Amino acid sequence: PPPSGQAGPPMGWNSWNRFGCKIDEQLIRDQADALVKSGMREAGYTYVVVDDCWMANERDADGKLQADPTTFPSGMKALGDYIHKQGLKFGIYSSAGSQTCEGRPASRDKEEVDAQTFADWGADFLKYDYCESKAADRPQGEPARDRYERMGAALRATGRPIVYSVVEWGDEKPWEWAYDVGGTMWRTTRDIKPNWPNITGILDQQVGLEKYARPGGWNDPDMLQVGNGLSEDENQFHMTMWSLLNAPLMAGNDITAMDEGTAATLLNREVLDVQRDFGKGQGYRLRDDGDTEVWAKGMSDGSVVVALLNRGTETVSVSTAASEIGLPPAESYRVLDLWNGEKPATPGPLGGEVAGHGVLALRVWPLR
Ligand code: GLA
Repeated sequence: PPPSGQAGPPMGWNSWNRFGCKIDEQLIRDQADALVKSGMREAGYTYVVVDDCWMANERDADGKLQADPTTFPSGMKALGDYIHKQGLKFGIYSSAGSQTCEGRPASRDKEEVDAQTFADWGADFLKYDYCESKAADRPQGEPARDRYERMGAALRATGRPIVYSVVEWGDEKPWEWAYDVGGTMWRTTRDIKPNWPNITGILDQQVGLEKYARPGGWNDPDMLQVGNGLSEDENQFHMTMWSLLNAPLMAGNDITAMDEGTAATLLNREVLDVQRDFGKGQGYRLRDDGDTEVWAKGMSDGSVVVALLNRGTETVSVSTAASEIGLPPAESYRVLDLWNGEKPATPGPLGGEVAGHGVLALRVWPLR
């Protein structure tokens, strides 16, 4: 497969969902090592993103951001070098307010100096937040677009290619403008939590946004919670749907201590093939029958991936037809169950039993 993050939406790991503010340089290095050991780097998870709380409370004498001296004593350049040596890419975090959500200094009106600092440290990715709660002078009444445009220009001016992750939480419709200010991905929701109502609620918010996705500009329904306490069915549901949405896949679990089920979920090649193929466009909801739903996505090789969802708690049977998901008429269809392997070819009806909080994900090819 092509190195992901170039052909498809960015993939990697981010410290926030599992560790929050409790991070330090050794923890980040250990996660980077685990990405290599687990095979995740090879599968495309290449960006190691240090989220909020890496920075010291004060800028240095030159007005530059600096690493927290207690938790990141070697500095961010050294951390970036370490990550690069593992064949990974280095991501960093700041906010468009004067402070981050955790009250650390951020980049408002210092966009140019900060972008240059990040480039000097070898950053390949910037997650750029938009906090209001703790930022005293959050640009109230000022369009978010203006702040993001300024940082986008500052990043470009460094001359270093830096993936720009726009994290305005959807209030100001970043899908309408983030690509034009240099964004590679833009958040479409508030923060994801590792529980079923939150994950399905975020999925609902993606309906209708499919038309804004394009190669190099991706809707971001927030980072993965796979391995952070969801059931195995829920993990597979989450992973399948984020892939069908061509969402960036930023693992948010502890890679050094994941169980086999979590690793297998994150490393499922058939599912990752869906995530990195823009094909006929981002997946979309085709049918909503209450607890059950049908979602589909056309792939570039002419196959269609269909996801049959069950939001209820009991196993139920869900089905669709080749014609409903937009496949051309054929005598029979090849069916690959993305989680359970090849199924017998069929003349057209598609479906089966779907566990509660689960998904049946089928990739279907017309056969001559
Ligand atoms: C916001 C973002 C989160 C995370 C935190 C850090 O809530 O949406 O993803 O970056 O800030 O404080």
